[in-house]
Amino acid sequence: MADITVEKTLALIKPDAMNWADEIIEEIKRNGFKILQKRRIQLSPEEAANFYAEHYGKMFFPSLVAFMSSSDIIVMVLAKQNAIKEWKELLGPTDSRRAKEEEPRSLRACYGHDNTKNALHGSDSEYAADKEIKFMFPDAYSIMEPVERGTAMK
Ligand code: PPS
Repeated sequence: MADITVEKTLALIKPDAMNWADEIIEEIKRNGFKILQKRRIQLSPEEAANFYAEHYGKMFFPSLVAFMSSSDIIVMVLAKQNAIKEWKELLGPTDSRRAKEEEPRSLRACYGHDNTKNALHGSDSEYAADKEIKFMFPDAYSIMEPVERGTAMK
């Protein structure tokens, strides 16, 4: 079979969606994503603050950090052609209330509730994906190809 050049993105199943993790993972696979890495962790408040550092100073930053460090999450590296864009499309709008109105079949519409409890995260760009994968998988990162160059998947 011919090689296909793929892109990687970081996905998080947030605390509010952990009860549906198995169902969500099936949905991820059904949509053609390959799960390259998967780990269940609980972030400390410091780790959550570092992960979301770009939002430091925004009004919602403290509640975002508190929520994301409140219990276990699942972190995954997903691979597919155009993974970053396609994963964001599957997620739907950030605010699950908006997702329910505008993209009712999206994952945030199905599993989330609002702006904070929105079930899932996806990297915004190649730069963010690279940084976030490195943050969550510092050991595995060295054996993975850089996001910009993609990787060959049979
Ligand atoms: S921004 O300001 O437009 O860059 O924010 P956005 O990309 O929409 O969201 C970034 C992450 O912040 C979370 N968020 C919030 N948390 C708590 N309260 C409020 N009001 C709020 N608004 C946004 C949101 O869940 C995003 O998290 P991720 O993990 O990126 O989905």
